[in-house]
Amino acid sequence: MALLEIDGLVAGYGKIEVLHGVSLALDEGSLCAIVGANGAGKTTLLRAISAIVPKSGGRVRFAGSEIGALPTHAIVRRGLAHVPEGRRMLPYMTVEENLLVASAIRRDGRAPIARDIATIFERFPILGARRSVAAGSLSGGEQQVLAMARAIVARPRALLLDEPSMGLAPKLVAQVFEIVREERARGSSILLVEQNARAALSLADRAYVLERGRIVLEGTGAELLTREDVTAAYLGG
Ligand SMILES: Nc1ncnc2c1ncn2[C@@H]1O[C@H](COP(=O)(O)OP(=O)(O)OP(=O)(O)O)[C@@H](O)[C@H]1O
Ligand SMILES: [Mg+2]
Repeated sequence: MALLEIDGLVAGYGKIEVLHGVSLALDEGSLCAIVGANGAGKTTLLRAISAIVPKSGGRVRFAGSEIGALPTHAIVRRGLAHVPEGRRMLPYMTVEENLLVASAIRRDGRAPIARDIATIFERFPILGARRSVAAGSLSGGEQQVLAMARAIVARPRALLLDEPSMGLAPKLVAQVFEIVREERARGSSILLVEQNARAALSLADRAYVLERGRIVLEGTGAELLTREDVTAAYLGG
């Protein structure tokens, strides 16, 4: 059974239906990519899974139980971490405080959390060097790394990443994808939404193409990379 299973999900904003019955599965320890054009509903899909946007149909199962009716905070407690588009964090708190707040959900005590934060500062030296600086003063790329570090330090069972490379300079894009690749290699389960489809598909165990609120294609990342219709539509030919 998949770690996260979505079946016939319908969601939108008020009377506007955006997702018209989306089904997908994320296996434990795997990376699943969702690609699609602007406005296809990728962000709405992640928001509906996290109950930020209400669902009007379908089922969401996570780690063996139904979470479709749970509010956002309860879903987070179950171990589903969501890194939203636009890398939200606590701008007036320091980098270190941001990590502490994010890890407060853990129940394994201060010492393991402190160890994990120390590890984060080793893995991501740009955060280590700026641990006492207000998060809001970081550059866009640094904020994205912090947003991902916040999710990682919470030790979630699965990560939802919404366009982690958006708006970053090419060198930082490569760094962000490197973090995603590393997390995948550490055994994390990741649902990744990206417009940078080539990079996302080349990391993905499984991938879905979302078009106007519907899944129109699915396969392994490698399969979708070889499909001419996919490359023409989403990878610039
Ligand atoms: N708060 C909102 N209220 C009403 N409609 C919205 C809202 N947010 C998004 N939409 C609409 O829902 C549709 C899907 O938007 P969504 O942001 O999920 O797409 P996306 O695939 O994430 O796009 P992008 O690649 O630009 O991030 C779009 O038609 C959009 O205009
Ligand atoms: Mg989006």
